[in-house]
Amino acid sequence: MKKIMPWFNDRLDLDGAIAFAKKKRVPIFYGTVWYYLGGISLFLFAVQLVTGILLVLYYQPGAETAFESVKFIVSKVSFGWLVREVHSWSANLFVLFVFLHMFTVYFSKAYRKPREMTWITGMVLFMLALGFGFSGYLLPWNELAFFATKVGSDIAGALPWVGESLLRILRAGDEVTGATLTRFYGIHIAILPGIFTVFLGLHLMLVQFQGMSVPPELENIPEEKRRTIPFFPDFVLRDFIVWLIVLNVIALLAVFFPWELGQKADALAPAPAGIRPEWYFMFMFQTLKMIPAHVWFIEGELFGVLFFAVGGLIWFFVPFLDKQASKGIRSPFWTWFGIALVAYIIILTIWGYLV
Ligand code: HEM
Repeated sequence: MKKIMPWFNDRLDLDGAIAFAKKKRVPIFYGTVWYYLGGISLFLFAVQLVTGILLVLYYQPGAETAFESVKFIVSKVSFGWLVREVHSWSANLFVLFVFLHMFTVYFSKAYRKPREMTWITGMVLFMLALGFGFSGYLLPWNELAFFATKVGSDIAGALPWVGESLLRILRAGDEVTGATLTRFYGIHIAILPGIFTVFLGLHLMLVQFQGMSVPPELENIPEEKRRTIPFFPDFVLRDFIVWLIVLNVIALLAVFFPWELGQKADALAPAPAGIRPEWYFMFMFQTLKMIPAHVWFIEGELFGVLFFAVGGLIWFFVPFLDKQASKGIRSPFWTWFGIALVAYIIILTIWGYLV
């Protein structure tokens, strides 16, 4: 080690990197627990990568092979069932923790100056995470996923101007077929991971450079009076413990609550009852179901899609719209906006499952 370390140090300035990591400190206060959520999302993404690569070794995209290959993985490949279960469970937990991370960051106003770009890169990661979910859902080529993809891509098709092209690009044609499956596979295992890695790199770089924020009301406490711990090794070790707990939870879920594979998709069969998207799309699905055929002079579906597009844009640019936050003031309007959004998502999701 005595010879190897100086060799790397001469070339990579490891001392500088270690000094930087040691200098960084993490604030300790009632909200420190929220700082683990981004790290958990990161860990879950790593689990997705490892299990996804293992699945690629046996999975075969294509209308005649996909369902059969997943059946083969879960019944014949050694530990194949475990890898598939862990991939499915950690995919769901990944989206859940990204949601939690996003809302805790929102309510602690961590998006305010100078962290606007951290929020924007996070928003891109959020949309990519939903893209992972949407594209992955179809891959087992079962009945439920087939019809949910049909409905989901129809919604994208309702967008003005770009809708028709977007629908054909997504489906690789006019209908959901084996070609759609191959396309979703490419999106899921190459395009999304590639873009995600770039934005994740930017996101984490910004977090490292800017350090962790504290909520506006704690900012007035002088630096020397704030309680902090070193990021390295103290906080990193705590992160590891939390990740270990998460891994155990995934293992328990995978063993005791396996995901059903269901029936193979049949394009000619009538749509089964109870088609539904994954839980994180449910609030949008339910909203679209409830909108009447026409709202004023606009077609209902188009109205719904526009509603979400405008809502999404507001959420995307919130650091620039909430002008009070950068002055260290909590604006009641934006706090209530966040609360209303969380309530809306929860109520419509539950409603979607009840009806
Ligand atoms: C999709 C995967 C994501 C990963 C892996 C990730 C990872 C992280 C990590 C490790 C941190 C530092 C620890 C923490 O504050 O939790 C962080 C901070 C942050 N993230 Fe994310 N993040 C993701 C998505 C998002 C989303 C969706 C948003 C919001 C739109 C966001 C906004 C932020 C902000 C503003 C910070 C700075 C927090 C502060 O300084 O207090 N991130 N992220």
